Amino acid sequence: MNTVLAAEDVVKSFGAFTALHGVSFSLERGKTLGVVGESGSGKSTLGRIVMRLLSPDSGRVWLGGEDLLALGRSQLRAARRRIQLVPQDPRNALNPTMTVRQNLYFQLRAQNVPRKTWASTVERLLDQVSLPPDYLHAFPHELSGGQAQRVAISRAIANNPDVLVCDEAVSALDKSVQAQVLNTFADLQASTGVAMFFISHDLAVVEHISDDVLVLNRGRTVESGATRDVLADPQDAYTRDLLTARHLAAPS
Ligand SMILES: Nc1ncnc2c1ncn2[C@@H]1O[C@H](COP(=O)(O)OP(=O)(O)OP(=O)(O)O)[C@@H](O)[C@H]1O
Ligand SMILES: [Mg+2]
Repeated sequence: MNTVLAAEDVVKSFGAFTALHGVSFSLERGKTLGVVGESGSGKSTLGRIVMRLLSPDSGRVWLGGEDLLALGRSQLRAARRRIQLVPQDPRNALNPTMTVRQNLYFQLRAQNVPRKTWASTVERLLDQVSLPPDYLHAFPHELSGGQAQRVAISRAIANNPDVLVCDEAVSALDKSVQAQVLNTFADLQASTGVAMFFISHDLAVVEHISDDVLVLNRGRTVESGATRDVLADPQDAYTRDLLTARHLAAPS
């Protein structure tokens, strides 16, 4: 099996409120799982759990073959390098007082990458996200939203993770820029084999990028399977509503 990330029956409550009611999925190397659902359906909570930024009440999570929830502190530090976040707002990932080069060096140092490779690595990283090397001198506030997101992606892939957790990673971008950044994600995946756990409230985005889809509604899986099958023939009324909402929002 080539499963790089999997969850089984994950339950998470905040006080009396249950945000996830037993959610399962599996993600293969080189594939993208789209996670959709309206606001509050539990998408980010699931993303934080699979990065072990948050502990579930019950259930299991595997990263590679390892039981993520059973790892000790040093094993967890190693595991965290294999799963990286691309957030909605790249400004959350980038230090505003540092240039792009310094931001990327900071990440490489944190990941114990040998210093003598940094200069060439950062040029390669920018190239992988289709940014010219001139941008190494820029500060985050000098970048457009799409450029800043490309830098955040390059930072996330700096040490060849197995999985990217993308939480609304293109949601703040204009439609045309969104399409370009989605293509960059697809190119990166083709060249590196990275798997993506791609959270979005936007079905059009998920349709574009995902092999498989997991539809959440109030913390429950209402539908899952190959994107093509699920979106072509939704079995659940909630998914049909989401599709209708998309068509109303963006008539084709
Ligand atoms: N730390 C927390 N404490 C209390 N409630 C929380 C916490 N984190 C999330 N929740 C609640 O859990 C539910 C799921 O939240 P989550 O952020 O996972 O939703 P989401 O699907 O990512 O929504 P959005 O599309 O708005 O980002 C929401 O009702 C939210 O208010
Ligand atoms: Mg969210």
